[in-house]
Amino acid sequence: MQALDTQIKIAVVGAGAMGSGIAQVAAQAGHEVFLFDQSAEAVEKGKAGIAKQLQRRVDKGKMQQADADAIVNRVLPASQLSELAPAGLVIEAIVENLEIKQKVFGELEDICGDQVILATNTSSLSVTALGSSLKRPERLVGMHFFNPAPVMALVEVIHGLATDKQVAEQIHATASAWGKKPVFATSTPGFIVNRVARPFYAESLRLMLEQSADPATLDALLREAGNFRMGPFELTDLIGHDVNYAVTCSVFDSYYGDFRFQPSLIQKSLVDAGRLGRKSGQGFYSYAEGAERPEPATAKSYSSDEKHLIVEGDLGIAQGLVERCRETGLEVIEREGHGLLRFGQATLALTDGRMATERSVTDGLHNLVLFDLARDYRSATRLALATAEQTDIQATEDAIALLQMLGIQVSLIADAPGLVVMRTLAMLANEGADAVHQGVASAADVDLAMKAGLNYPEGPLAWSDQLGSGVIHQVLTHLQSSYNEDRYRPSLLLRRNTFAKTGFFTES
Ligand code: NAI
Repeated sequence: MQALDTQIKIAVVGAGAMGSGIAQVAAQAGHEVFLFDQSAEAVEKGKAGIAKQLQRRVDKGKMQQADADAIVNRVLPASQLSELAPAGLVIEAIVENLEIKQKVFGELEDICGDQVILATNTSSLSVTALGSSLKRPERLVGMHFFNPAPVMALVEVIHGLATDKQVAEQIHATASAWGKKPVFATSTPGFIVNRVARPFYAESLRLMLEQSADPATLDALLREAGNFRMGPFELTDLIGHDVNYAVTCSVFDSYYGDFRFQPSLIQKSLVDAGRLGRKSGQGFYSYAEGAERPEPATAKSYSSDEKHLIVEGDLGIAQGLVERCRETGLEVIEREGHGLLRFGQATLALTDGRMATERSVTDGLHNLVLFDLARDYRSATRLALATAEQTDIQATEDAIALLQMLGIQVSLIADAPGLVVMRTLAMLANEGADAVHQGVASAADVDLAMKAGLNYPEGPLAWSDQLGSGVIHQVLTHLQSSYNEDRYRPSLLLRRNTFAKTGFFTES
């Protein structure tokens, strides 16, 4: 399907943060763009904002003045909805209210020709419900940009029950032609990103609730071991807790209270207290003048005279750790076994979703110290460790010393099932798997959405493939039995992949 020709005029209704950004994107792509808002002042402000943005690029030498002027001139302020009649595509970015949006689309249907495509930028309303009051619901599609629209690459193209497939395909092609990375999704709560990302916040909030670690430590672990650009606490402080909490509640309610999406009381209390994050000067962290960010919990320095590392069996994804040990000059002795490292008094293993205390007893492992998942063990600068209740202090110190020898800082956290990065990834992959299983989106689009929409270091499904579906499935199964909660139930698709020994993209 071809993108809309640049000769086709675009209209944007709503000239707020999103609408003016979308108008800029379409004008940059070469279209003339009508910009309408119920407030003439908003249109004026919107267009001035676009001009200011582009001028900044000119000043930095990234754009020619003439090109910037031409783009601004293609943005045509409209004072009446009727002026949008010549548009071939109208993108709505007004207030998030079903009835108000339906009313505007109803009027647009009468003003614009039969062939007009109507698109909504809604984040949380059903495209199917929005279309239900229209004469031609097949011409309505979701075109969900991310904030700020000129910068963020992702566009979720949402089809409602009645949306014509060709209309969705044309919007997909048009978003591509506008330099965006579009993905397809069906009209379901949260679409892709706002659904699949929920566990990124939820698991850390739960770990905090259970006193496993504090925000600064969890943020540091997800950044330094998980390679996420920001940790969940600093990120929600930036997004605003009112906004993030409202999205979680909306997805939770829309899925009829599915515990996978259960909101956190910790976040609710921040909202109740008016601690909305950066914008209010206080969230998990203080943003008051001169306030310092608390340091992550970091183990003090230990050393060990031990010169040997015993590697028992296949370490799987954590093999990079062994290579790092070799490079530091430790003598590595390989033996048959079940993926364990023995160093000094310590027996180290990658978390499999069980608490160290439980695994130590069940598997008969003395002095067990569990380590967390890292995106790349060869370059990780911090790793979480958790010890069993029965583990000796000397064994804990040996395990810490080993990682410190490799230049890895250690955050010793409480004995929580699945630790931090492993548990977060398992739940992200599980949610992505369910979205695929339920026909919301393809595996490739789930991963692309999480990378382009949220800058994740890797798509959760490709990352799951790298570990092996069986590893993720086992972590989830153990989390589920540890908590005895439906929240951790593994997706059927992940379960099937595990038994079939396949991945989402590759044979594993
Ligand atoms: P905003 O509050 O900055 O702008 C909304 C604009 O719509 C205002 O200028 C308002 O005057 C105008 N408006 C309201 N009712 C109108 C009507 N009946 N006719 C014409 N104009 C009307 O809001 P924002 O953030 O730009 O959001 C707009 C839409 O985009 C919402 O549906 C929101 O859910 C969605 N969205 C927002 C994102 C964000 O991060 N802010 C991200 C993705 C989607």
